[in-house]
Amino acid sequence: MDSHNVSRMPHLHREGDRIRLIVDGEPRVLLAGEVHNSSSSSLTYMERSWDRMVEIGCDTALVPVSWEQIEPEEGRFDFVVLDGLLAGAREHGLRLVLLWFGTWKNASSSYAPAWVKRNLARFPRAQVEPGVNKDAITCLSRDAREADARAFAALMGHLRAVDEGTHTVLAVQVENETGLLGGARDRCALAEAAYRAPVDLALSAHLLQHREDLVPELMTAWTSSGARAEGTWPEVFGEIAAEAFMAWQVGSFVGAVAAAGKAEYALPMYANAWLRGPGQAPGVYPSGGPLPWVRDLWQAAAPSIDFLAPDIYLPAFRDICAEYRWPGNPLFIPEAAIAVAPATVFHALAGADALCFAPFGIDGEFDWGPLQETYRFLRGMLPVILEYQGTGRMVGLLQEREAFQSFELGGYRLTARFHRSPEAPGLPGRGLVVALGEGNFLVAGADLDLSLEPRSAAVGQVEFLRIEEGTYEDGRWVPGRWLNGDELHLRLGPELCARRFSVFLR
Ligand code: DGJ
Repeated sequence: MDSHNVSRMPHLHREGDRIRLIVDGEPRVLLAGEVHNSSSSSLTYMERSWDRMVEIGCDTALVPVSWEQIEPEEGRFDFVVLDGLLAGAREHGLRLVLLWFGTWKNASSSYAPAWVKRNLARFPRAQVEPGVNKDAITCLSRDAREADARAFAALMGHLRAVDEGTHTVLAVQVENETGLLGGARDRCALAEAAYRAPVDLALSAHLLQHREDLVPELMTAWTSSGARAEGTWPEVFGEIAAEAFMAWQVGSFVGAVAAAGKAEYALPMYANAWLRGPGQAPGVYPSGGPLPWVRDLWQAAAPSIDFLAPDIYLPAFRDICAEYRWPGNPLFIPEAAIAVAPATVFHALAGADALCFAPFGIDGEFDWGPLQETYRFLRGMLPVILEYQGTGRMVGLLQEREAFQSFELGGYRLTARFHRSPEAPGLPGRGLVVALGEGNFLVAGADLDLSLEPRSAAVGQVEFLRIEEGTYEDGRWVPGRWLNGDELHLRLGPELCARRFSVFLR
């Protein structure tokens, strides 16, 4: 790769706390969608998936590429389907994020090629009960790690050859929802030996180096076991030893696969997580997956992974976004529940600075009209969203359990009162507010009233100078009516709409 191509390649630009995805030299936010698991195995099937994504207004498609499809026999690679996916995306004006379904797909190895699945001696399985093989290869298998890494490197090498000049592919997800189901840790023979052995030196070094800023759950477990940097897993990590062990082993495996791929073609790479449901124990959700409380282990084990990403199907959307934003980790949502996506997208982009928002099952059966309206509405506003991400001057509005959302912005106290009750069917209240400066604001969304007060009751009362309705086209405000008299309020009804307004204190 020459230096010109390297700087033009899709990459993450880190500037203080602000992390941007740079595509063709420009920052981008991806209004995306993830296709169903089996769609991208057939180019014929994908024809309607591309059309659907274009109709909805996606700019990026997240599509699986499976190990079984690219390496049907060991060492024989077949990239015909991948090349067809690139051609299909280009024809439809879409970019891609590839999802590498290698050793893990939802904690199982169902996408490994038959020559891998069948060879249990060379690629041993995880065991939760001693002697009972699972449908997942053990993360301790050195042979599996190397074979997966070779296949992934071949994929990335091919991608470099066919896409380096075009940048159809913007990023790659390495594996899918890794970890172990059915128990907190693997108990196959390899895993048993490793669990009773001393923790790796690289991990000891990380613990010592980050002893002041470890993630709280890990810090508590580690310090309650005496803050030891050496010892077996139970000795060093006490109560959370099983999950910590799995996170380190799975992270090391995924990190090795990603590093082999990056050596060929260094696109941004991430790992996605199956999240923990309320009160669940490790093993009910995949133990060792890239969850926030084991992020130090993942970071130390997999430096080639650029960030960890949540698949959000649980209701506490805002909290989950917050949990996946720590210094150095941008929010990127590869999977979001599709039914509520027309609402959650506002918080993702405007409230949590997401680089990508992708509802899962974009090419399936669902009522996609609301998502299409929302993506069209947001498309014109994306330059504004990009400008204000990371500045602290933009807030996302999303009704969860509460009747209103209050916050300070642009020198005022703002309250969004949602129109529906949280239990009512249909989309919740949603939107965004931007402080444009000097008493000027933008509010956009639906199903809410916005009101403003002074930050302190002592300083006066808020008066509107102007409210304009309008729309954004390519980031340019196209004004409509001036709202005054009976319309002098910020009421956003059931249709998405935008208002720019200015206020002062009298
Ligand atoms: C999460 C997985 O990552 C996806 O591949 C898919 O299986 C969805 N769950 C289905 O809801």
